Amino acid sequence: MSDGPHVLPKNFRKLTTEQRLQALSDVYDLSAEELQMLGYRGNLDLSEIMTESAVGFLALPMGIAVGIPVDEQVYDVPLAVEEPSVIAAATYGARILRGAGGIHTWASDPVMTTQVYLSDCSAGAVEKLREAESQIIAEISPVLAAMQRRGGGYRGMEVESLQDLPVVRVQIDIDVRDAMGANLLNSAAEQAVPLLEKLSGGRKIFAILSNAAPKRLAGAEFYAPLSRLRRGKLVGRPLAERIVLASNIAECDPMRAVTHNKGIMNGISSLANATGNDTRGLEAAVHAYAARSGSYRSLTSYRITAGPDGEEVLHGWLEAPLVFGVVGGAVGIHPGARAALKVLRGPGATQLARIAAAVGLAQNFAALGALVSEGIQAGHMRLHATRLAYIAGARGKLIEHVATRLSAGGVYNIETAADMLRDIAEKHHPDTPESAQRTEV
Ligand code: MEV
Repeated sequence: MSDGPHVLPKNFRKLTTEQRLQALSDVYDLSAEELQMLGYRGNLDLSEIMTESAVGFLALPMGIAVGIPVDEQVYDVPLAVEEPSVIAAATYGARILRGAGGIHTWASDPVMTTQVYLSDCSAGAVEKLREAESQIIAEISPVLAAMQRRGGGYRGMEVESLQDLPVVRVQIDIDVRDAMGANLLNSAAEQAVPLLEKLSGGRKIFAILSNAAPKRLAGAEFYAPLSRLRRGKLVGRPLAERIVLASNIAECDPMRAVTHNKGIMNGISSLANATGNDTRGLEAAVHAYAARSGSYRSLTSYRITAGPDGEEVLHGWLEAPLVFGVVGGAVGIHPGARAALKVLRGPGATQLARIAAAVGLAQNFAALGALVSEGIQAGHMRLHATRLAYIAGARGKLIEHVATRLSAGGVYNIETAADMLRDIAEKHHPDTPESAQRTEV
């Protein structure tokens, strides 16, 4: 295929970030506003060290889900996400649960697994590798020394032949403390390779962490008295029963479970975005965990049960592998991520995973409550209306004004928003040219 006119220069990667931005703008006709947004606060150096062939930042909006109860504390949780209803839902769910006994959380130690796959192994390789555990530990100990000083390090090893392939798999568990751990896990696996090859008589196929993280679990639960539950016209037991039924549907029906879990990840992935964590690794682990029974299922469950003082309560429960780091990777580099961690009062990785579990549960509780009562669309369309107002040209207080009118009229499109904007502008400044009327009422 020949390079057409719309192709960036072949040396694009080698240009400076400013030159790349210029080239991008020339070839793809970017507007001044688009360029300015990419060149976000002139922080091009940072984009350069965070990614290859950088052209700036796509800055996600970051908001705060205020007042998330996590055990004995209440957190203001930064969430970076493009979907307008996410923070509203998390905050709403958390508010109800704060007044209903709060959210209790737990987490395992941050143990991750790294893997080496070997082919062409000699007979008895599996046994030989198993017997050589202390030798393998000694081999990787230089890589793990610093982690060990921080209380982490080697936690176990498993060697197995794959069922369907002539391949031996060596898995090494490492407690990575406050890190997400990818670099350490990959280095440890690669460090072990020569010895593993020697012991097994085989050849390395590859050595890398597993993102599955089934041992790095975090969870959250609440026991909310039924008398505290209200959503529109649904109050108490009838609301709780419908939430339980909704969660049972997600437990039985993978088609629904995907959407149910997506709602949970609305909160958790947004927290990962805000804190500079790897959303792809996190999500891969979570969805694999949801499918661990062989069928894709809900990450949460709900039931009505007796509370400690005999009152009936709704018990909500969530558990998932939540791989969050607070050191290393983008976390330490991006000032926005650092700010988010400050707002969270500098949690360790395990505490951050517990906060994430609480956010995911609050998010899911709010979504189910809305779905089984008034539905979510009214709230979503209200938020959508503000975007339409913005796209139509409204700014400042006019956004809210036009959105309110759009919601009242029930017709959601840009043309209607633009008509309303014109109408408002004419009423307020009948003699002003249209361009000058894009200000506040
Ligand atoms: C929308 O982003 C999330 C929901 O669809 C989740 C759910 O259906 O449970 C509302």
